[in-house]
Amino acid sequence: MLKIGSLKLKSNLILAPMAGVTDLPFRMLCRKFGAELAFVEMINCRSISHKSRKTRHMLSTLPKDKPLGVQVLGCEEKFILKALDVLKVYKFDILDFNAACPAKKVVRRGEGAALLKEPGKLHKLLKLIVKNSKIPVTVKMRLGWDKDTVNAREVALCAQDAGVSGLFIHGRTKTQEYGGSVDYEVIADVKKALNIPLIASGDVFSAQLAGKMLNETNCDGLVIARGSFGNPWIFKEIKEFLKTGKLLPKPERKKVVKVMLEHLGASVDFYGERNGVILFRKFFGWYTKGIRNIRPLREQSSRAKTRLEMESMISKTLYITICLLISYKTIL
Ligand SMILES: Cc1cc2nc3c(=O)[nH]c(=O)nc-3n(C[C@H](O)[C@H](O)[C@H](O)COP(=O)(O)O)c2cc1C
Repeated sequence: MLKIGSLKLKSNLILAPMAGVTDLPFRMLCRKFGAELAFVEMINCRSISHKSRKTRHMLSTLPKDKPLGVQVLGCEEKFILKALDVLKVYKFDILDFNAACPAKKVVRRGEGAALLKEPGKLHKLLKLIVKNSKIPVTVKMRLGWDKDTVNAREVALCAQDAGVSGLFIHGRTKTQEYGGSVDYEVIADVKKALNIPLIASGDVFSAQLAGKMLNETNCDGLVIARGSFGNPWIFKEIKEFLKTGKLLPKPERKKVVKVMLEHLGASVDFYGERNGVILFRKFFGWYTKGIRNIRPLREQSSRAKTRLEMESMISKTLYITICLLISYKTIL
């Protein structure tokens, strides 16, 4: 259904690379609901070349965690080449180069979205990466630095010329970061100019918005980012909507609780109890978004340190809903 260089994907629904989010437990969960391709969290080429324990842990995977991409960040040829060398022993299916990250500490070093200001330098780096990689290379970009310097078409053509096999685009500028609206028109314009696949991201928060992105831009695939927060079944919803035009009902809270417990368990297995629970806290917040009277429980969850404590918070989310239902029925 989607081909990126030699990589054939069964569907065009992709879980975004997200620092601090797309670890092994979350990737496996999203795959269960239909994410086809996933990425490990973005890693700096310098860190990869230093082979620290933390980096090796971030790069760890399972046989079922496939197809899998790695996303690297960098701007110095020396470290990029070293990182590519280290990555050779891993069995990633795709290598994505980040020219999109808007974080201050990143752009200050001339990496991530800073490269949008220097298409010539980006071209040179991509050429080097393509030459030294045995797996398909892609690039992740934004529309440009700011609204006055939108140069997505130029950057995309530059990347294509450097030999990348596909392009990921976030339909916002660097200065927009994650706010403001997504510009579907610019994405559509980039798509028209390219002969490699263009995969788009930006506000794919629902099945309908997925349809809108595909229809308005004619892009070849979708990257789901914040739409998956506390909502890993979004992949299933999008798949169903694109196939039948029907919207699936939201999962019952009982099902959400089951998924939360499974996610917590996987997080504890991957990081150990203390870190696994601490890292799960933000997911607890996302899964419970919109539940009435959840605030006190959320506050408690942000202090939870053991698996048992967190499991008890998760079970209580079910209890809150049941209590609300009982009081509602009593009033009626
Ligand atoms: C917490 C967070 C971390 C992210 N980390 C990365 C990253 O490491 N690499 C990357 O290319 N994009 C990253 N992104 C951007 C997403 O991949 C995506 O392009 C962007 O969020 C737009 O999609 P959305 O509006 O559907 O969230 C991140 C986004 C979020 C919210």
